[in-house]
Amino acid sequence: MKMLLKGKVAIVTGASRGIGAATAVKLAEHGAAVAVNYNQSKEKAAEVVAAIQKNHGRAIAVKANVFDREESDKMVREVEREFGKIDIVVLNAGGNFKNAPFMEQAWEDFEKKILHEVKASFWTLKAVLPSMIERKSGSVIIISSGLSRRPNTGFSAHSTAKSALDAFAKSLAFEMGPMQIRVNVVAPGLVLTDATSSMPEEREKMVAGMTPLRRIGLPEDIAGAVLFYASDESKFITGNYLPVNGGQMML
Ligand SMILES: NC(=O)c1ccc[n+]([C@@H]2O[C@H](COP(=O)([O-])OP(=O)(O)OC[C@H]3O[C@@H](n4cnc5c(N)ncnc54)[C@H](OP(=O)(O)O)[C@@H]3O)[C@@H](O)[C@H]2O)c1
Repeated sequence: MKMLLKGKVAIVTGASRGIGAATAVKLAEHGAAVAVNYNQSKEKAAEVVAAIQKNHGRAIAVKANVFDREESDKMVREVEREFGKIDIVVLNAGGNFKNAPFMEQAWEDFEKKILHEVKASFWTLKAVLPSMIERKSGSVIIISSGLSRRPNTGFSAHSTAKSALDAFAKSLAFEMGPMQIRVNVVAPGLVLTDATSSMPEEREKMVAGMTPLRRIGLPEDIAGAVLFYASDESKFITGNYLPVNGGQMML
């Protein structure tokens, strides 16, 4: 198998479970040394690291609440100390949100979701970008959501927060392009993870039925799209928004 990321170092936020964990494993499979960030799930993060090492990859687990400036900064310094540099950043950790119609949304919950989502990207990038700018090289991948462009009832906080990330990514792609740092967005549709595990089976079936490829997404499906943006196979692509949803958003 071709190793697309040989010699590269990646950090994946929120990589103890779900999409982040699958992404960490995928990037390591392609030769990247990977920092598996977690906040609370220490054992799960250790399992991701062990799975990578079992496959002869390089990985470390790094604890940080990426909504916090100091912890994000410390995380980046730790990864740079361990692996010497950072080439790829996958900003995957996002904030929880209350799924409810707008009229039942409290401002405090709405504000918290937006702040958490944006801070999770802002602080990590503030810490990572200076060395990428110096080396004139880097790939940043932000995990948004299909709901940032196609909202649905009950998801106003999530859609608003993820739209902010989309605009943030485009702004950064513009500013960082001259420094050869690419910034792209991956926008998953519904993916089976802990975050969606409480969804009724009928709803899952309904979404699968409306999806041209007739199934719900798996974390590995998203990881494949991230790998593309992380690698030089996409070296002339920046400021892009890639929906990964089995064809649901093609129209
Ligand atoms: N699942 C979907 O259907 C779907 C659809 C569209 C977009 N997305 C987006 O995809 C991303 C991942 O979602 P998921 O479904 O994989 O979630 P998940 O299974 O619930 O996993 C969330 C991950 O984020 C980590 N995390 C949460 N808060 C954190 C913080 N403050 N600092 C560091 N890590 C933190 C968790 O780590 P700990 O457990 O260690 O705290 C965990 O590893 C999110 O941005 C989400 O909005 C998901």
